[in-house]
Amino acid sequence: MCGIVGYVGPRAALDVVVEGLRRLEYRGYDSAGVAVVSQGRQFLTKKAGKIANLDKALAESSLPRTGLGLGHTRWATHGAPNDVNAHPHLSANGRVALVHNGIVENYARLREELAREGITCVSETDTEVVAQLLGLQVEAGVPLDQAMRAVCVRLQGAFTLVATDSENPDVVVAARRNSPLVVGVGDGENFVASDVAAFIEYTREAIELGQDQVVQITRDGVEVTTFDGLPADVRGYHVDWDLSAAEKGGYDWFMRKEIFEQPKAVADTLLGRHDADGKLTLDELRISDAELRTIDKIVIIACGTACYAGLVAKYAIEHWTRIPCEVELASEFRYRDPIVGPTTLVVAISQSGETADTLMALRHAREQRARVLAICNTNGSTIPRESDAVIYTHAGPEVGVASTKGFLTQLVACYLLGLYLAQVRGTKFDDEIRATMRELESMPAAISDVLSDIDTVMQLAADFVDAPSVLFLGRHVGYPVALEGALKLKELAYIHAEGFAAGELKHGPIALIEDQLPVFVVIPPQGRDMLHDKVVSNLQEVRARGARTIVLAEVDDDEVTPYADVMIRLPKVSTLLQPLVAIIPLQIFACELASRKGHDVDQPRNLAKSVTVE
Ligand code: AGP
Repeated sequence: MCGIVGYVGPRAALDVVVEGLRRLEYRGYDSAGVAVVSQGRQFLTKKAGKIANLDKALAESSLPRTGLGLGHTRWATHGAPNDVNAHPHLSANGRVALVHNGIVENYARLREELAREGITCVSETDTEVVAQLLGLQVEAGVPLDQAMRAVCVRLQGAFTLVATDSENPDVVVAARRNSPLVVGVGDGENFVASDVAAFIEYTREAIELGQDQVVQITRDGVEVTTFDGLPADVRGYHVDWDLSAAEKGGYDWFMRKEIFEQPKAVADTLLGRHDADGKLTLDELRISDAELRTIDKIVIIACGTACYAGLVAKYAIEHWTRIPCEVELASEFRYRDPIVGPTTLVVAISQSGETADTLMALRHAREQRARVLAICNTNGSTIPRESDAVIYTHAGPEVGVASTKGFLTQLVACYLLGLYLAQVRGTKFDDEIRATMRELESMPAAISDVLSDIDTVMQLAADFVDAPSVLFLGRHVGYPVALEGALKLKELAYIHAEGFAAGELKHGPIALIEDQLPVFVVIPPQGRDMLHDKVVSNLQEVRARGARTIVLAEVDDDEVTPYADVMIRLPKVSTLLQPLVAIIPLQIFACELASRKGHDVDQPRNLAKSVTVE
């Protein structure tokens, strides 16, 4: 998620904005920039890299120290992280400076429209298109706030926008849809920002903007309207967080914050993935449909949690495309002399895009002339750069070492890949693909439902805080969920935890079952009776041997109730999509249990966010 700061007041906007961006660094970013208005001109400095690079550039440029400006730290979504794509973006006439957080889905069509009017964008970003549209408006004499409203109604997607006009040095105008924006109300000065961390050293009085609202701030005023220009009722509040809490949005851990960001992360990853007719469009996929039709094998390579996302993907991709799909730990892949070639599609899944094991496996696959597609959350990182194609997840920066929203958005990207391959190869009809996409687009709400009912799993964490061992069982796509649930507990609570394929129990692991041993069991949706009944039998087997069973099952699944010591209810979703909701309680369980043990949940011992060594 990008960091945004806007300021109008008696202080030097440059200082306020750069300091505010520093307070937002925790959000993760790959470039930064500022623009201030002075004597009818925009003065702009922006650089790829960290704020230290911006500081160096600012030391060499003499930006005026006036009282109006804005700034941005960018987490690249459209366009590589470089100086040109960094924000702020200027309109062609130099009037408007704009910063943006989010994704404008229809930017390509708007860009074509601008080109027809003779306006050529200089960057690859969706943001610049908005700056150009605002520039045209103010050049026609439209006040900036009115221009913002006129442009916002033409945008699709998620956006927080903040703009200034060189010929109107007293106002900052901002707007939001599906992306946060907060106003800091000072005394003779006002602020807009992505979150309160940017301005709480100056004021703790804030106003949270609502959906589809525009705000104009001056030194002494804050005026909020709807996109239609009608006055909007907003409520102020006092920020009583300290800076550390502010960075975590009031949560105690980044991981907990990121667990609760998952509905938005999934929604953002689904944005802009199909055209008006429902045809899937994966715009970063640089492998032609004709080539994709020649693929006769898929091999997914990844590590840790990313590998478990690949295991889920295997079930979906094989079911939808009928292409054999192997999943391989990246660290094993190149040592097993894999059978890959020009008709193999190797899919490298990586949140960071820098994991050495995955990168080396990818290079080995390319040496064997396989086509490589990356699924990655970090724009411009090494793994997508060395791949033939990429599907970016849009989870935003994941600060907690234990992956949560990274995992969920990897699942979504894998589902999109499977559906796209099915569309290209005709193994699913268009109406079937549209139906699955509609269900995927309903998943943020389903995930929110799970997040709104966590008392049971929070109590479980308290009950099991001293448990020496916990087992997790699942079958079909529930098996990777069991593996991921166990990994979360291992890496956060440092206790023995193991995930099993439920059908494997009788081949050995059932010997582990002891009285009151906690065993989580993921029950498949009731739609697949054979699958469902088998796992219910496994549940009975462990319960009969004294296990304390924690059962994750659909809301109306009463068949399992007699065998559940604790029930965790899940929304009804299709079998293949159930991991998107089933993993949530397991993430919360691990996070809460580790927190109760007094562990550093965000930085667990011995672990790094990106393992850049083999
Ligand atoms: C997940 O909680 C772990 N932090 C770890 O397993 C991680 O998923 C793995 O190291 C892969 O990282 P990547 O997705 O950045 O490649």
